[in-house]
Amino acid sequence: MYSDIVIDHFSNPRNVGFIEDADGVGEVGNPVCGDLIKIFIRVNNSHIEDARFQTFGCGAAVASASMLTEMAKGRSIEEARLITNQDVADALGGLPPAKMHCSNIAADALQGAIADYEGNSKTANREPLIRKPADKRKE
Ligand code: FES
Repeated sequence: MYSDIVIDHFSNPRNVGFIEDADGVGEVGNPVCGDLIKIFIRVNNSHIEDARFQTFGCGAAVASASMLTEMAKGRSIEEARLITNQDVADALGGLPPAKMHCSNIAADALQGAIADYEGNSKTANREPLIRKPADKRKE
């Protein structure tokens, strides 16, 4: 049902976490399932130098956000703007139709982070979804 790539990214997600004082933050919730993804980007010289994510989401959402952040890193803002939901699903070797909306919220959150970076739609809450106790101790 799930590709080996999905299982790999779910089992060993890349780029989990948040970026303190990120240049752009995008947050998207899925009204159907109630899941949430937040993407943080660091931009340098108009390129996405780093991308991190946090999610309260299903396995497909974790895999989608993991793949999406891998795809976004190193790209110019203009290139990253072109990453679609379908691109993420394709890079994962496909998702079951019932799970396509999970890749949608990942790509939409990146577009939100880019809009936030460009000052077009300031994300209301730039705080991480969650801070681990170790993160809190650094404050
Ligand atoms: S079921 Fe909600 S994001 Fe996948």
